Amino acid sequence: MTDAMTKTEPGFLHHFEPGTNAAGAPLLLLHGTGGDESDLLPLGQAIAPGRALLSPRGRVLENGMPRFFRRLAEGVFDEQDLVAQAGALAGFIAGARTRYGLAAPIAVGFSNGANIAAALLLLHSEALAGAVLIRAMPPLSRPPEGSGLAGKRVLLLSGRADPIVPAAAATTLATQLAAHGAEVTHQELAAGHGLTDEDVLAARAFLAG
Ligand code: MLT
Repeated sequence: MTDAMTKTEPGFLHHFEPGTNAAGAPLLLLHGTGGDESDLLPLGQAIAPGRALLSPRGRVLENGMPRFFRRLAEGVFDEQDLVAQAGALAGFIAGARTRYGLAAPIAVGFSNGANIAAALLLLHSEALAGAVLIRAMPPLSRPPEGSGLAGKRVLLLSGRADPIVPAAAATTLATQLAAHGAEVTHQELAAGHGLTDEDVLAARAFLAG
């Protein structure tokens, strides 16, 4: 952690950890509602030791809890804000890549972080090299068509007992990403909405592959 730092530039408060594995793509860690830039650092270190870690804090506050975009109710998103925040996050990623000399990152998102990662994939495919989406749902009611995810791998981890993301919603997202050309692996775990050891094992195996 010697060179680790928390910065406010460019645009998002974030934590950057340089990493020791220059061959592996950096991880973009995207926390869930109420989390921050520190939350997923242990997860990143556990699933891909030595990778550079770039971890921004969501800029929207819901009752004081950071998120990556506004929502109108549980599972009902303010899509105008979502699109704007996804654009800002894509800009942040581009700036951070220049600043820290990084290759395109693989997003590792949990819950709200997985949903903004899914929006990045659908709206700004160039921003990411791939993604691990934990408990994601379709972020957009009418996703654009596109083919920018050709050759990019996405792991979607959903929970069979998730009270927030119905099984059909996760399947719809997998279909949307595949329609954009992504090589999607969708695993349904014996889990609810929370992160489990199975997620860690599946993400580690995916990133090693
Ligand atoms: C969201 O708002 O992105 C999802 O409902 C997940 C959550 O943050 O609870």
